[in-house]
Amino acid sequence: GSVSDAAIKKIETLKAEKDAVILAHYYVDDDVQMIADYVGDSYYLSKIATTTPNKVIIFCGVSFMGESAKILNPEKKVVMADALADCPMAHMADEDKIAAMREKYEDLAVVCYINSTAKLKAVSDVCVTSSNAVDIVSKLPNKNIYFIPDENLGRFVAAKLPSKNFILNDGFCHVHTSIKKEAVLKAKEARPGALVLAHPECTQDVLDLADYIGSTLGIINYATASTEQEFIICTEMGVSYELKKKNPGKKFYSVGHRQFCPNMKRITVDKVIHALETLEPEVEMDEELRLKAMIPLKRMHELGN
Ligand code: 13P
Ligand code: SF4
Repeated sequence: GSVSDAAIKKIETLKAEKDAVILAHYYVDDDVQMIADYVGDSYYLSKIATTTPNKVIIFCGVSFMGESAKILNPEKKVVMADALADCPMAHMADEDKIAAMREKYEDLAVVCYINSTAKLKAVSDVCVTSSNAVDIVSKLPNKNIYFIPDENLGRFVAAKLPSKNFILNDGFCHVHTSIKKEAVLKAKEARPGALVLAHPECTQDVLDLADYIGSTLGIINYATASTEQEFIICTEMGVSYELKKKNPGKKFYSVGHRQFCPNMKRITVDKVIHALETLEPEVEMDEELRLKAMIPLKRMHELGN
């Protein structure tokens, strides 16, 4: 790694001084994953935020992740390593459209992918992540499901639950939709025998080529348990840090050169140190909004257990 001993020491001292814990998503830079106390997928991070005893959470991820941590832990100080790291997809649904959909279908469940703003969560019935979406939706009594914001994850879940009526929304992740079928086919040709592991935010034609579809942690666990040696990775390439750490002998290939989330990549070790020093920028939320957004997040945790 390229994190200096001095930086590591400084982080340790500041963490003890501020009673802080560092949480990071698998998409952040290797160096940031290296200095984090816990690294995980969105579901794991939303759970670990509720169980760490520390007064301060330094979040190395995008805004919706820090918001979720704050919504579930109002007594803790949640500090973003970078205030501008935001997921564009988190904004890709419309409150008026949700209200209109509720008028149209009496028994509607608004299912909100955790990649969403607190405002969208506040008008939803239950949250899901890519690792639990099929399980959670299958447990809902409702037949009509309005899945927001991601169309691709929505379609993936809908295909697994044919007894439900899914209404999809047109949100998308630009990182995952930049992974093209033709490029995956080319990668398969170059590495015959390699397994294709894809995130459900990929488009349907890419998912059709996948040997395994799952969350970032799902992909890591699958590759680690597999007896195969070569894998084509169809998600953000930050996952390769954990993949290589757990599987030093195995090979992991990207599909092209665009598998980088510019927002996740904003976070640096220097920014983490700055956040630890200043305890800013802090996630702040209107209490009324927090209480409303908490309902679907808590329901996810209840149904997921
Ligand atoms: P995971 O929940 O699989 O970690 O995904 C988060 C994300 O932002 C996917 O693009
Ligand atoms: Fe959002 Fe896509 Fe980045 Fe995930 S990879 S945080 S969905 S923009």
